[in-house]
Amino acid sequence: MALPEDALSTDATEFIGYLECASKDAAGWCGFSLAGPMTNSLLITAWPHEDTVYTTLRYAGGYAMPDLYAGNAEITQIRSSQNSTHFSLVFRCKNCLQWDHNGSTGQASTSGGFLVLGWVQAFPSPGNPTCPDQITLEQHDNGMGIWGAVLDENAANPSYSAWAAQATKTVT
Ligand code: HEM
Repeated sequence: MALPEDALSTDATEFIGYLECASKDAAGWCGFSLAGPMTNSLLITAWPHEDTVYTTLRYAGGYAMPDLYAGNAEITQIRSSQNSTHFSLVFRCKNCLQWDHNGSTGQASTSGGFLVLGWVQAFPSPGNPTCPDQITLEQHDNGMGIWGAVLDENAANPSYSAWAAQATKTVT
């Protein structure tokens, strides 16, 4: 994760993320929680399909198929790649570190210098893979975890604006 230069003193609202997810022959999906747990946190889901890595922003009130996130967060892509064992995505996530899903609010505060994040992976690919708003998922079946990420001066980077300007690709 890269963050705006002042993110360690002022809570950032956006970040640049680098995902690398295990994926056999471009199948499956991975997901991230920006607060740690699956519930009541902004969720990013990503999966490869043909030459594209798709994403959808989701929110879950319980341990069931997450809803489409109702807030104004937005993902634009810098680059993506796929091979027989992994897919990867470098992306800008605007308005992703503070969330409001129909009045359910939360935040991942960068000024504390520490984030709690969650991850999951799944073997089956999403249904409707070319329509991010309409994908169907089965419960993830290839591992999950919650971890803590220390944010240091390498993450909050003076080059952030220049990197963010490269996020010109919108995949919908
Ligand atoms: C954990 C169900 C989709 C992120 C869990 C657990 C269940 C569940 C039952 C708890 C498992 C345990 O403690 O043993 C589902 C179902 C889904 C779904 C039925 C869709 C049909 C997603 C998605 C994401 C996600 C799309 C993220 C993009 C997580 C995370 C955890 C988790 C980070 C671990 C942290 C926690 O226990 O809260 N999920 N999930 N899930 N899920 Fe999901």
